[in-house]
Amino acid sequence: MVKVFVVNGSPDKAKGNTAMVLVPFLAGMEKDGARIDLVYSKDLKVTPCTGEMYCWYRKPGHCIHKDIMQEIYPRVKSADVLIIATPVYIPIPGELQDFINRLCPLILPRVVKVGERTRARFHEDVNIKKILLVFTGGWWERGNFETVTMIAEELALNGGVEFSGALIRPHAHLMKDEGGLTNEGQAIIKLLEETGFEYASTGKISKDRINAISRPLLSHTEMLDSDNKSIDKALLRQVNVN
Ligand SMILES: Cc1cc2nc3c(=O)[nH]c(=O)nc-3n(C[C@H](O)[C@H](O)[C@H](O)COP(=O)(O)O)c2cc1C
Repeated sequence: MVKVFVVNGSPDKAKGNTAMVLVPFLAGMEKDGARIDLVYSKDLKVTPCTGEMYCWYRKPGHCIHKDIMQEIYPRVKSADVLIIATPVYIPIPGELQDFINRLCPLILPRVVKVGERTRARFHEDVNIKKILLVFTGGWWERGNFETVTMIAEELALNGGVEFSGALIRPHAHLMKDEGGLTNEGQAIIKLLEETGFEYASTGKISKDRINAISRPLLSHTEMLDSDNKSIDKALLRQVNVN
């Protein structure tokens, strides 16, 4: 049975687009028996890292800040898989960045050269073997998602664990309309469930599934037109209210 720690960085928490994509994926993992421990970084009110490096130079593995993270650390350490879920927020919401920074005590203070990069690895008592990223964005193109992907991949590389990749849902808002999930939206939700099951049972996600989950729902130009129309409509409503 796989133990999974999930941090969802969406300020919209369970009502957000990120949760819309994450929840079916986790349901699929649970179908294979995975145990999920989910937190919203917005709820945690994590003290931002203040950079003393106490966890490296004074008491390796321990953080100087005695806040909610002291309760979270054992939960993260005991997981086999860490899932980071987030909306793109040029690049990620502040609370999630604070959470990621506070994972520094999990990293052993010993640096090595790997290729041209400086790398480290997690302490022995950290069980995590894989890190997966699940995220949603409002825009159309993939180029807009590289920074977020790099944040999660760098964490995996600095922990010395596998980066399982990124499940990306661009223009996630188009999975719904006024009547709820569209047909395409429903198909993607089903695919996410199947993908969660696949990941829990094999530890991998196929390229085909990743591509199918992130497939365009409109052409780029159609999407820009549709978004601009929605913006105009919302602004007009606002003028009428004022
Ligand atoms: C401050 C802010 C910045 C954003 N920046 C981007 C961006 O750079 N690229 C993008 O694709 N979407 C961007 N978005 C849109 C969100 O990522 C997108 O709507 C997402 O699905 C919201 O997920 P949530 O409902 O879980 O918060 C931004 C949204 C906000 C509020």
